Amino acid sequence: MGSLNIENVKKAFGPVEVLKGINLEVTDGEFVVFVGPSGCGKSTLLRVIAGLEDSTSGRVVIDGQDVSATPPAKRGIAMVFQTYALYPHLTVKNNMGLGLKQANTPAAEIDRRIGIASSMLSLEPYLERRPAELSGGQRQRVAIGRAVVREPKLFLFDEPLSNLDAALRVNTRLEIAQLHRRLKATMIYVTHDQVEAMTLADKIVVLNAGRIEQIGGPMELYNSPANEFVAGFIGSPKMNFVDGARLGETAKTIGVRPEHLTVDPKSGAWKGTVVHAEHLGADTNLYLDCEKAGLITVRIFGVYDAEPGATLYATPDPAKTYRFGADGKVLK
Ligand SMILES: Nc1ncnc2c1ncn2[C@@H]1O[C@H](COP(=O)(O)OP(=O)(O)O)[C@@H](O)[C@H]1O
Ligand SMILES: [Mg+2]
Repeated sequence: MGSLNIENVKKAFGPVEVLKGINLEVTDGEFVVFVGPSGCGKSTLLRVIAGLEDSTSGRVVIDGQDVSATPPAKRGIAMVFQTYALYPHLTVKNNMGLGLKQANTPAAEIDRRIGIASSMLSLEPYLERRPAELSGGQRQRVAIGRAVVREPKLFLFDEPLSNLDAALRVNTRLEIAQLHRRLKATMIYVTHDQVEAMTLADKIVVLNAGRIEQIGGPMELYNSPANEFVAGFIGSPKMNFVDGARLGETAKTIGVRPEHLTVDPKSGAWKGTVVHAEHLGADTNLYLDCEKAGLITVRIFGVYDAEPGATLYATPDPAKTYRFGADGKVLK
């Protein structure tokens, strides 16, 4: 079991309040992602859950027990960091088993758990190697394996893919998703990358400057962002924001995602000039300077030929246009 309740957690470093009252419920088996820009407090919140950092106030409850005063080793958690933090002089096998050995787990049980974890993570051929003899992706899998063998109530991941190149990031992301499905364990995963959040999470927690902006499933955040911050943070290329006054609207800001605009050379809502076209093969991103709406991005499925300087009309899908008030909150 591994449920988690965070109750009004605040954390200050000296005079600076980094977490400003966090409330969150995580149910057993859930995959929860904390996402937000660099410096918003994601790692601090994870470290408070782990017990590596004391909160200034509030409670952390794991499986119904207040662990605020429980040391990290007694919380039933295992953490995986961006830097793999492996012991260079130990083999893969001994890196994975060290924590269990220190906890006086019988050797046969250690071997059994390493067997299962190394099979799940395709590490069997490397058990006798040392970290220096592994690729970055393999090292990160060892670090994940070291967490798996501890059979924790909660897995905590802090940007575990950030040191990997793009292709390996996708592979390892897939492995973490499969691992979660097999283990049915509770996982809390920190990233600044909204794509990782969208692809891995059951539930996403969007953080901004020490506060939660919104909690929801990936499609909930995409379809129904609560405010301008979430609307701009989730989705790539990001949502276009146009000053409502320019469009004769009473809302402060009008938002429309690049994929929710169509273009036509002859007619449409916003007349514009092509500034730049990005040809990605599967998609084309057009940057249009529109008379009414200013600079906007349009994402077109497939190949679209457009020369800089050409005139195009962009039309937003009215059913997928968002309106935001002066406080940034979405207007229903
Ligand atoms: N030990 C510390 N002492 C002082 N300030 C800290 C400490 N750890 C983090 N901070 C500050 O807290 C804020 C949040 O940091 P962090 O949780 O690491 O952000 P994130 O992981 O979202 O990038 C940052 O402004 C950071 O500089
Ligand atoms: Mg961090």
